[in-house]
Amino acid sequence: AQAAVPVSTEKMTLPKHECQRITRLKHHNHRFTTALEVLEEHAGYLQVGQKTDSRARAFRRAACSLKALPHPLTNVEEARTLPHVGTHSLSVIQDILEDGYSQEVQDISDGDFYGTMQLFTGIFGVGSATARKWYERGFRTLDDIRNDSTLSLKKDQTIGLELYQDLNTPVTLAEADIIQEMVRAEVQKLLPGATVVLTGGFRRGKTKGHDVDLLISHPTEGKETGLLSAVLAKLREKDLLAYETTSANTYDPSSVSRKEYTLDHFERCFSIFKLDKSLISSNQNTKQAPPSPVGAVQQGSSRPDLLHHKDKVSLERAGGTASFLDEEKTEEKTWIGRRVDLIIAPASQYAYALVGWTGSKHFNRSLRLYADNEMNMKLTNHVLYDSVKNQYLPASSEEDVFLHLQLPYREPAERNC
Ligand code: GTP
Ligand code: MN
Ligand code: MN
Repeated sequence: AQAAVPVSTEKMTLPKHECQRITRLKHHNHRFTTALEVLEEHAGYLQVGQKTDSRARAFRRAACSLKALPHPLTNVEEARTLPHVGTHSLSVIQDILEDGYSQEVQDISDGDFYGTMQLFTGIFGVGSATARKWYERGFRTLDDIRNDSTLSLKKDQTIGLELYQDLNTPVTLAEADIIQEMVRAEVQKLLPGATVVLTGGFRRGKTKGHDVDLLISHPTEGKETGLLSAVLAKLREKDLLAYETTSANTYDPSSVSRKEYTLDHFERCFSIFKLDKSLISSNQNTKQAPPSPVGAVQQGSSRPDLLHHKDKVSLERAGGTASFLDEEKTEEKTWIGRRVDLIIAPASQYAYALVGWTGSKHFNRSLRLYADNEMNMKLTNHVLYDSVKNQYLPASSEEDVFLHLQLPYREPAERNC
């Protein structure tokens, strides 16, 4: 059931910060935002090293403004009045308004570079720097990577290649619920009263995702200590983990005033669960999701399969024409690999952790920028620090966090920028 998106033609001025607006998954301007997101992704692929992805971010911010617009954009003059819509984004918007599509975006998404980068960054453990190195060495398919003995793949990349199809098949909400229940059962056996909350995109109302983000806590501060390793031991015992990498809690309160304050220091585990296929209703995984709203890019695209690498992958390149429907390939194992992030937050930091791990990533970036620029406060996934009063601002709910920041509360579904 897709609720109709309310339309308003009222002339409006969007606030500058994304966190000051309501941004829903469904909006009126997908034809523009899908195009801008291709450019964002492409810019991210071109980005060198640690250098801030300012070009990618510019496209993202332009797309965010269009997502928050309460009606379809019909003229370029209005686009010009929106915050963060730069000249490059404007010209793309103009092309789409005039021709129905953007040739620039079309050329990029049809190109070898973009397609290959989508394919390679779809491998768990492979970021754009590695993907580009491989692209520049002439690799174009997963088999090119698999068959080159001179590459020393890291452990996560090896499993990423092995489970490529699994990990590039979107996780459904039903699967996320099953995994949450599995974890909750173990957690509560080990520590009664502990909580396990599904965060990330699913909490924002998405029905598919690339992973399952679970935030674990206990109302009594300190009780959560040691919980993660105990839970992992149980899961391991039951042979439910295909991969896991754990980082310890490195939280240091004094770091908030230093430069690394945006980092997340919770004890956490990035893992791959083995989700038994018998737990999933038979055709749920292979069913293709309905196509996203028809956008300019899709019109006449020869390779619509490359539009959203998180949702779809190029099966051709992923290794033959075998699709996810191919029983032969998948029958060997009885489970499907699912990426799961487990994060442990102590009670006193829980509200901030919940905001931080609910996202979107861009919403959170906007919150931190807003806190810093408008409130003279430092926001992290752990705390909010008032630099004027020189004190931490405790919060026991997400509403508290927004209150401290003097922002109207936004439901998770309204944080989809
Ligand atoms: P999909 O999983 O692709 O459906 O979307 P998502 O919004 O759930 O993305 P993701 O799982 O990557 O991130 C969920 C939230 O966790 C976002 O707000 C991210 O900023 C945050 N997050 C993800 N990974 C990390 C990480 O390594 N460190 C920190 N600090 N935050 C992270
Ligand atoms: Mn996620
Ligand atoms: Mn995640």
